[in-house]
Amino acid sequence: MAVIHPALRLLRCPVCAAPLDRPAGPAGPPGPGSAGLRCGGGHAFDVERSGYLNLRTGQARRVTGDTAEMVQARVDFLGRGHYAPLTARLARLAGLALARPGGAGPAVAEAAEPELVLEIGAGTAHYLSAVVDARPRALGLAVDVSKPALRRAARSHARVGAVAFDVARPWPLPDRSVDVLLDVFAPRNLPEMRRLLRPGGVLLLVTPGDDHLAELRGPLGLVGIHPGKRARLAEELAGRFTRLSSETLTRTLRLGVDELVELALMGPTGHHTGAAELRRRLEAVLPAGGTAMEVTASFVIDRAQGAAELAVD
Ligand SMILES: C[S@@+](CC[C@H](N)C(=O)[O-])C[C@H]1O[C@@H](n2cnc3c(N)ncnc32)[C@H](O)[C@@H]1O
Ligand SMILES: [Zn+2]
Repeated sequence: MAVIHPALRLLRCPVCAAPLDRPAGPAGPPGPGSAGLRCGGGHAFDVERSGYLNLRTGQARRVTGDTAEMVQARVDFLGRGHYAPLTARLARLAGLALARPGGAGPAVAEAAEPELVLEIGAGTAHYLSAVVDARPRALGLAVDVSKPALRRAARSHARVGAVAFDVARPWPLPDRSVDVLLDVFAPRNLPEMRRLLRPGGVLLLVTPGDDHLAELRGPLGLVGIHPGKRARLAEELAGRFTRLSSETLTRTLRLGVDELVELALMGPTGHHTGAAELRRRLEAVLPAGGTAMEVTASFVIDRAQGAAELAVD
């Protein structure tokens, strides 16, 4: 049997919530899974050949997440380092949360128990792998529904495991099991986020600032930021979380045509507009002979802890 990633062993069965602590057992006829995990109740789940655990068995809702083209655009764009300041800031904030005496994780008891960092809608696990890399005892779990993203996430870092799961469902992890929860431009499920955070655990939630990619919205037809979005987020957090801080990270990026196309493709626009059409739109707005334009990248990072009155006990 293939070795199961230690982060995957922390998961619970999505059917009966028992620990997924045993190998799937003698394989039946050869299937797509190369290995698997099973709970005591006999529910079995494949670890796909590309290395992620598929816990979507039986999930009725059809969500497919980002396409292969969107994921490739994300890999290419993030690989160029334009969002490196966000990556560095998240690694720093997560590191501070994990190191805080009396805070998240086993920082107090110097046991060998790992610190668990969970990223929801993790895509390629670009941010999660950086956070985990900065903490030698941390394990990362990347959750997504997109197969091409999960394939990348599973290979992103030796201490990151990848799981196919729809975030709208109850999450397959025990109460108070997560030290740092990351959500970067991804769907949320605040009741589950609250349930999973350990006392002292920290949620790092990144949403687009008002002027994020503002220069591209008209020319490329990018989906705009809904004006009520921040108020809605505050409402969602209220009662469940106490916001510790909110900071905005803004950068002006000078981007060439290929990078502009990647940037548009890796966001929601990529679900309905292809690269050729985006390139055509760009050519129409760039000044004659122009090959680059300046674009604002703006990220709001909210740092929150579970509200004390809801502490699970
Ligand atoms: C805008 S991307 C952000 C990816 C990553 N956080 C990053 O910033 O590089 C949103 C991600 O959420 C995933 N996603 C969408 N709906 C989902 C769902 N219901 N459950 C889990 N993941 C989902 C998509 O597949 C995609 O990878
Ligand atoms: Zn089960």
